[in-house]
Amino acid sequence: MTILVTGGAGFIGSNFVLDWFAVSGETIVNLDKLTYAGNLENLASLADDDRHVFVRGDLGDRALVDELLVRHTPRAVVNFAAESHVDRSIRGPEEFIQTNIVGTFRLLECVRAYWSALPSIEKSAFRFLHVSTDEVYGSLALNDPPFSEANTYEPNSPYSASKAASDHLVRAWHHTYGLPVLTTNCSNNYGPYHFPEKLIPLIIVNALDGKMLPVYGDGQQIRDWLYVKDHCSAIRRVLDAGRIGETYNIGGWNEMANIDIVHIVCGILDEWRPKAGGGSYREQITFVKDRPGHDRRYAIDARKIADELGWHPDETFETGIRKTVRWYLDNPEWVNNIRSGAYSAWVSKQYDTA
Ligand code: NAD
Ligand code: DAU
Repeated sequence: MTILVTGGAGFIGSNFVLDWFAVSGETIVNLDKLTYAGNLENLASLADDDRHVFVRGDLGDRALVDELLVRHTPRAVVNFAAESHVDRSIRGPEEFIQTNIVGTFRLLECVRAYWSALPSIEKSAFRFLHVSTDEVYGSLALNDPPFSEANTYEPNSPYSASKAASDHLVRAWHHTYGLPVLTTNCSNNYGPYHFPEKLIPLIIVNALDGKMLPVYGDGQQIRDWLYVKDHCSAIRRVLDAGRIGETYNIGGWNEMANIDIVHIVCGILDEWRPKAGGGSYREQITFVKDRPGHDRRYAIDARKIADELGWHPDETFETGIRKTVRWYLDNPEWVNNIRSGAYSAWVSKQYDTA
């Protein structure tokens, strides 16, 4: 048995691939374009593992995807591949439209052709799982209830609009063509292999470098945070038992303001890696210009996946953030290796003008 995963060299995808082999013997064909966000070093431990078949390519390359589907006959496709960083989508939306919308469309068309031709037993067992985000629901006021699966879509950034569009395509391919799809909408992940353009790894890496810790606006924006391995277990659970055509919200019941996250990370670093000259990493906190159109609050009502599928996160934020900081302290070479010209260029473009 085999599954095809797209974007399996990125942050969540690589954690998913690694965790998969800890619980399953099933082969993964991993299709990833290796953009700046894809990193095969994340999967180095699988270099000699025949169960992992890595293919560099675009999810929108129909000839390649057709060929992979015919050759490997997967029982499921899990679609992680995307442009994922909101700030990059604001500076340059084109790639987000191409990969997240056009790419998902082309992938759906290839999968539809493949699935239509499957023998009936394989056809009814087949699943297409689309990994999406809570950002499609827009922004909540402080007293609003958390997002449920019934919330309307109100995306506010080029990134979230492109993910919303891809969710709609997935839904339509089910309703129109009968493709057996599942969609998951998850909150902010954190954990190992998180690219340091995103808040938590950026704060850890900048703190250790003695650089400013940039907090957008007043730092009171709220996100729900989920340890990445809990997201991976939720995806496995939805793949196993989710009802076809349904969407499942995934979250950690853990809303926090950005400034509080930054203080917690600084506190752990002060404890585990005290600054050589004394003082606290908190002194590096710098309030910078806000993100345009910055969503104020996200929160997830994760009761459906809990009630229907019995999924609950294993980590609290307290345990997950400590594991995360420990991972970055223990893996300085991973951080150094991604500090390519491209990474440095992004950091100076984003923060020198702040
Ligand atoms: P990421 O940016 O770390 O990784 C994306 C991966 O996709 C990279 O390996 C990249 O090389 C690959 N990729 C990009 N364009 C591609 C293309 N055209 N063809 C093939 N591969 C391509 O992203 P992530 O944080 O791991 O997110 C994975 C998925 O989960 C995305 O769909 C994202 O929208 C969703 N999501 C992320 C979060 C989060 O907090 N990071 C939360 C909810 C949902
Ligand atoms: O909610 C799920 C989403 O979470 C995913 O769909 C996205 O792919 C993922 O990138 C993430 O989006 P966010 O925009 O919430 O994550 P980011 O880490 O970029 O920012 C988290 C919060 O921190 C957000 O309110 C912006 C703020 N921030 C971010 C950066 C990079 C800062 O204050 N300073 C920063 O330097």
